[in-house]
Amino acid sequence: MSAPSPLSARARGLGPSPTMATDARAKELQAQGRDLINLTAGEPDFPTVPAASDAAVRAIAEGFTHYTAATGVAELRRAIAGKLQAENGLRYAPEQIAVTPGAKFALYAAMQVLCDPGDEVLIASPYWVSYPEQAALAGATPVFVPTREEDGFVLRAAAIAPLLTPATKLLVLNSPCNPTGAVIPPEELQAIGDLVLRHERMYVLSDEIYEKMVYEGRRHASIAALDPEVQRRTVTINGLSKAYAMTGWRVGYTAAAPEVARAIAHFLSQTTSNVTSIAQRAALGALTGPAADVDHMVAEFARRRVRVLERLSAMPHVRCAAPGGAFYVFPRVAPVFGWRSAAGAAIPDADALALRLMEEAGLAVVPGTGFGAPAHIRISYAAGMEALDAACDRLDGFLRGLRAA
Ligand SMILES: Cc1ncc(COP(=O)(O)O)c(C=O)c1O
Repeated sequence: MSAPSPLSARARGLGPSPTMATDARAKELQAQGRDLINLTAGEPDFPTVPAASDAAVRAIAEGFTHYTAATGVAELRRAIAGKLQAENGLRYAPEQIAVTPGAKFALYAAMQVLCDPGDEVLIASPYWVSYPEQAALAGATPVFVPTREEDGFVLRAAAIAPLLTPATKLLVLNSPCNPTGAVIPPEELQAIGDLVLRHERMYVLSDEIYEKMVYEGRRHASIAALDPEVQRRTVTINGLSKAYAMTGWRVGYTAAAPEVARAIAHFLSQTTSNVTSIAQRAALGALTGPAADVDHMVAEFARRRVRVLERLSAMPHVRCAAPGGAFYVFPRVAPVFGWRSAAGAAIPDADALALRLMEEAGLAVVPGTGFGAPAHIRISYAAGMEALDAACDRLDGFLRGLRAA
């Protein structure tokens, strides 16, 4: 008889983040010397903005290396409140802000303080991989709201409405969206806000981590700015990872109504304590530093987006909706399922396709399966133009080599 598992049911139900797993496998192959273009990354390929790195070096030199308040130092929370007011039209007092180890933990903390077992958490599908897992870790049930590829994967109030029940507690918004790049247009955001107002029990988690990466004249809007009651029931989530190329520093934050903010503060004080003091100074440097670095990065992403979409449109078997934001494209590859690769391997699904693409063509992408979209693959364009062109050559060659079974 095998020994009983030492693990909790919670741990037994939890797998690794599939995006991090593909990235790890690609890095492993690269370390073995394989010629591989890795487009799995969920992070900018730019260096951290100098204003952040310089502030961190100064923090170390000054010995700013001890515990801080669990929710972060006052100067940083003031700077975040200032940013939210200036850029998002949101008024939060610094006490309503909590600095967290990345936006990922901000989301986790918010779900932990808002959800009870039996609560339902509405998540637009395709979704970022951690939302359903984090809802489940809070004992809640993820409920997926369908979006349509023909509609650019935009989350619509009309798709949310039929799924509302007395158990609905949270609606997770992610605009711009990872993996689809979809941006919720202002009139749709208003309609979603109206739904929130009509459904008294419902709160919103608004994950705005890709807010600065929007293209073709689109503007990011925060749902909490619609109305004071919507703001009261929204936890606005953001972080420094994407906008300032600071993924490794682990700085994110929540902005919430006082009661929720207090609960998040208690939660942090019992779990992580403060975000690394040096990283907090780096974040302060980034937020108060020049905007030119961010603007340059976004302009570069915009150029790459156009190029990759152009290249994809000339490839056989794939179809790709134009994403409004973030730094991913999300083409549909299902027409080749059931076919064989040039080397003769079967391609029953997106996982197999991604694997064959990695092994046979030296190109790493993420299968859509982990995002709830098994007909798609996610391609990150957080890579130089030359690498992207080479990657498109490889994908094109691979697709042209496929044979219908
Ligand atoms: C949609 C979305 N939210 C949150 C995060 C977490 O970002 P971080 O924890 O680095 O701040 C990511 C990272 O990939 C993301 O794509």
